[in-house]
Amino acid sequence: MENIVIFGKGGIGKSTIAANLSATYALQHNKVLHVGCDPKHDSTVGLVDGGLIETFMEKHSRIFGVRDHKPLQASDLLVKGRLNIDCAEAGGPEPGVGCAGRGISLMLEAFQDLGILKDGRYDIGLFDVLGDVVCGGFAAPLRQGFAEKVVIVVSEELMALYAANNIAKSVRTYASNGVYLAGLVANLKDGKPDRKRLQRFAAILGTRILAFVPRDPAVRQAEFARGKTVVERSPKSPFAKSIKSLAATIRKVKRKDCPLPTPMDDRKFYGSW
Ligand SMILES: Nc1ncnc2c1ncn2[C@@H]1O[C@H](COP(=O)(O)OP(=O)(O)OP(=O)(O)O)[C@@H](O)[C@H]1O
Ligand SMILES: [Mg+2]
Repeated sequence: MENIVIFGKGGIGKSTIAANLSATYALQHNKVLHVGCDPKHDSTVGLVDGGLIETFMEKHSRIFGVRDHKPLQASDLLVKGRLNIDCAEAGGPEPGVGCAGRGISLMLEAFQDLGILKDGRYDIGLFDVLGDVVCGGFAAPLRQGFAEKVVIVVSEELMALYAANNIAKSVRTYASNGVYLAGLVANLKDGKPDRKRLQRFAAILGTRILAFVPRDPAVRQAEFARGKTVVERSPKSPFAKSIKSLAATIRKVKRKDCPLPTPMDDRKFYGSW
């Protein structure tokens, strides 16, 4: 099983890209586990007919709220999505109450106890993680040794690069757990972005750009139509084509080709452009 973790600044396109990658791998007959690690619990919404699924945290309080409950089963945690993708959402507390990272940690512990991530069950595990790794909770997949291949989604905007630089710091911190940075995905906002600047940023981090994904109205159309990913709904769209190529590129990257990232300190970051 290969665990791929998608990180990136809030709103950058992580869930869109992650769900379309999962659908692409599943269409290629891989057995896929898709895990949303974000209290917003919308990562799997395009993969499951019928919309939002019950989150781990909701199940946890429902099942453990009942006295004499049965121990949790794998089937309690996973929802079968389209294309035979097994889906889970960590969920989290009500906004402004408690620690959202705790839900992710608890869910990953439950995965471990129930052998969900044992070799042979899935070909690919895709984790879509909220970008704010300043909160240790969101580094849980790195810290607890579930993450292997980290992919960071960026755009051509400065703050997206700032978040990527921070995420690279936490990859460095947890490298001894087997975590490595496979590369960056440039999910472009602009028709004519400064690709050279993005390439230079990747070189400073000691990594690569895995794909330039175009802005594409097919993404919005799929989102409003509900219930299907772009690769299923509009397979010939520029977005779908670039996701298919990204899916293959991510699989080809090997750990030995991924040196420890070399993120900048904040002063150097702001002085670099
Ligand atoms: N390549 C693209 N072309 C057009 N629209 C896009 C593209 N990528 C993302 N979007 C749109 O941007 C919005 C944010 O995307 P998404 O929810 O995937 O981001 P996110 O990083 O998961 O956000 P969050 O951090 O809030 O979870 C969505 O409405 C999505 O449709
Ligand atoms: Mg998201």
